[in-house]
This record gives sequence, C-alpha cells and structure tokens, in this order.
Amino acid sequence: MSEQVNLLVVGEGGREFAIAKKLQASPHVKQVYCAPGNVGMSTVGVQPVDIAETDFAGLIKFAKEHDVAWTFVGPEDCLVDGIVDDFQAAGLKAFGPRARAAQLEGSKDYALNFMNNYGVPTARHASYRDQTAALAGVDQFSFPLVIKENGLAGGKGVVIAPDRETAIRTIKEMFASGQARLVLEECLTGQEYSMFVLLSNGHYRILPMAQDHKRAYDGDRGPNTGGMGAYSPLPQLSAAARQQIIDEVVEPTVNGLVAGEYHYHGILYIGLIMTAAGPKVIEYNVRLGDPETQVILPRLATDLFELVDRALNDQPLPEVKTSSQASFGVVLASKGYPQKPVHGQTLGRFPQVAGISIDYANVAGDQDQLVGNGGRLLMVETLADSLQTAHDRVYAYLASLNEPECFYRHDIGAKAGLTTEN
Ligand code: AMP
Ligand code: GLY
Repeated sequence: MSEQVNLLVVGEGGREFAIAKKLQASPHVKQVYCAPGNVGMSTVGVQPVDIAETDFAGLIKFAKEHDVAWTFVGPEDCLVDGIVDDFQAAGLKAFGPRARAAQLEGSKDYALNFMNNYGVPTARHASYRDQTAALAGVDQFSFPLVIKENGLAGGKGVVIAPDRETAIRTIKEMFASGQARLVLEECLTGQEYSMFVLLSNGHYRILPMAQDHKRAYDGDRGPNTGGMGAYSPLPQLSAAARQQIIDEVVEPTVNGLVAGEYHYHGILYIGLIMTAAGPKVIEYNVRLGDPETQVILPRLATDLFELVDRALNDQPLPEVKTSSQASFGVVLASKGYPQKPVHGQTLGRFPQVAGISIDYANVAGDQDQLVGNGGRLLMVETLADSLQTAHDRVYAYLASLNEPECFYRHDIGAKAGLTTEN
C-alpha cells in the first residue's frame, strides 16, 4: 500500500461527521482534519480545526501546511461561493463542483433551465421576478401549489400552499423578505427519494439510495426542516424502478453536464418523487445530503477514499459495493427547531451501547457534558440485518434518554412499512 495521506473535510454537521469518520477508517488515510468540525468528532479519531468554512484563504493555508492530499467539501454554500475554484487556483485538489455547476443548487431557476435544456423530467413550473406576475401566475396551477424561493434556504425555502389564500400570502411574504425571484410548481404525489451520484467528469457511480423525512413532526406534519431521519436501502423501490431513475434522470443529467462542459467532480444529489408517470426531479443538490449521508456511508463497502481519490484524479472508478445490511437513523433536534430552536441546553453524556453510533452535529462542551448548540444536534444510527431490527434498536436507545429540551420523530421508516407495533 502506498503511503498514508492527510485529508481535510470542510463543514461541521452530522454529514461531515459521517464523511470524516468513513475517510478516517480507510487504510489509505493517516489523519482526517475537519474545519470547523465539532467536538463530537474526536470520538472517531477526526481532528477538528478551528477555521470557519467561509474562510477559504485560511483553509487553503491549512491544507498546504498540513500536507493535505485533497479536501472534501460538505456544505452547499461554500460550493456556491466558489471554494473549489479557489482551491484549484491555489494548486490544490478539492472534491465538489466549481461555482458554475453549483448553481444547480444555488438557483432553482438555473436548475429548472438545465432540466428543460437536457430533457430531465421535473414538475410543471414557472419562474417569476416580480410579485404581480407571480400572483397572476397562481391561476395557471391547481392546489396544493408548491412555492419555492429561488436561492439557498437550507431546505426551508419551500411552502406547499393548500389553498389560494395561503399561496397569495406566501408569495407576498417571500417578496417582502427580499427574494428577487420565486418558482411556482405543480405539487407532485408519490414517495420522495434521495439518489446520490458520484461524478468524475462524465463517469459516474450510484451510491446507496435513502429516504429522508423533511417535515418536523410525525405524520409528515409541521414545517420543512433540513431532514429528521433516514434509512437505506428502500424496500419499496424495486430494482426496475431504480433502473428507470438511472435511465430517465441520471443519464440525461450526466449527459447535460458533459454537453454543458461543467467538468463536474463531486457528488450530485438528485431529490426526486416517484410519481405514477415515472420519476420527476424536485431538486438538484451539489453535495451529499444530511441526514442521508449518515445512513448511506455505513453501507458503502467500497473504500470511500479510493472512490474520491480516483474521481479527483480522472482515473477509472471502482465498482460501488454495498453491504447487504440495513441502515437506519433518527435525528435528535433542539426543541423549537426549525423556527426557534433552544440553544445551550445541557445534554450530558450519551451512553455507549453496542451497535449504536452517534453522529454528532450541533454540539458544544465536552464528551462528559455536552451542550446543545441549536438545530439538529445529532443522529442516532445503526446497521442491522433488517431495517426493522435497526429501527427497533435506534428507537429503544432514544427511549432510554432523558432529554426534555430535545425532540425526534417517531415514525421514521413508516413508508417502508416499519412500525413500533412489531
Ligand atoms: P426542495 O428545497 O426543493 O428540496 O423542497 C423541499 C421539500 O418540499 C422537498 O423535499 C419535498 O418534500 C417538497 N417539494 C418540493 N417540490 C415539490 C413538488 N413539486 N411537489 C411536491 N413536493 C415538493
Ligand atoms: N436531507 C436534505 C438535504 O441535505 O438537503
């Protein structure tokens, strides 16, 4: 084996925890640094580094000083702001799309134009730059109507208006809050899935798929969040349906990236709904998902370092091998998330239980006395021989905790037929 290398992961959430942990476990890797990381990362041998993810110059300096072979960029805002362009200009390798391709997530309008240009199926939609036109546009759609802010909103810039009154109020509020553009979209029905494609300039591999749960409360009620829980694989999605997604969505998307000369090296996350008329894309994201990453990476049997290293160096990609085990995880969030999350509550120490992994996100303090830092705090996750076993183990662990200033959803996996009754 060649010499072991140092790597840098940019970001601080549960997603970056899972990426850094997986990379640190590779035999090719000496040390993974994570900037800024979080205090939970030392539990898996990853070293947090006190540099903000927006401080590109500081990150570049660190990467050079610490002999970092390449950097894996977790969050979308850095990618949209051109972190990969800056690293490349400094002669460094970073995994993620450049700013031009990152517009696929940074602007809904840009993404819809791309889908229209390259024949990628999506919801019927229209984009508006002023309030009068948007209000008039409401008549072109039925209800419920999906209303989306054009820019990045952490998964929270989408409102599904059940009626005309809510639609009109939402449009006025979005323009009043400074949105320059918004999108109206037909509301699709069907199950929602996350597909992750690892791209190396036109060559690609499909990573394990997952289902996220975007609404805050049980029964898919409450506001949209960054995601409250996930599992993989998806027993309700047949091999034929997965292949249909590859043929009808992934292929035209990758062909479009090649034809448009995007030179995309990174992850493309395709959010889609499997409708009666086939798969339709509801969003592109230019990075891994949070919390899906925390459940898909444990199932990845191919070395993540090798996959990324080859993708970055334009070498043939290894096959993606997936564990037959099932992965299941539930997010523990601060009470009040996403509108007004509690900050600074004492969480104490999370008990270590065989088979249970804790992917830390917004936590501060130290391992013996952790403190909540707002938002999604951590994910409790496990791998087991069946999804139901994994589900039961995670919920038994959560039920044993005493965290009154936190909450979690109790119905993660219900759409795969998982239940607490079993
Ligand atoms: P987005 O930020 O585009 O991912 O949207 C956030 C969430 O809103 C998605 O995860 C879906 O649950 C929902 N959503 C977005 N677009 C649509 C649509 N056209 N039809 C139904 N639900 C949608
Ligand atoms: N899990 C949704 C997202 O990462 O955007």
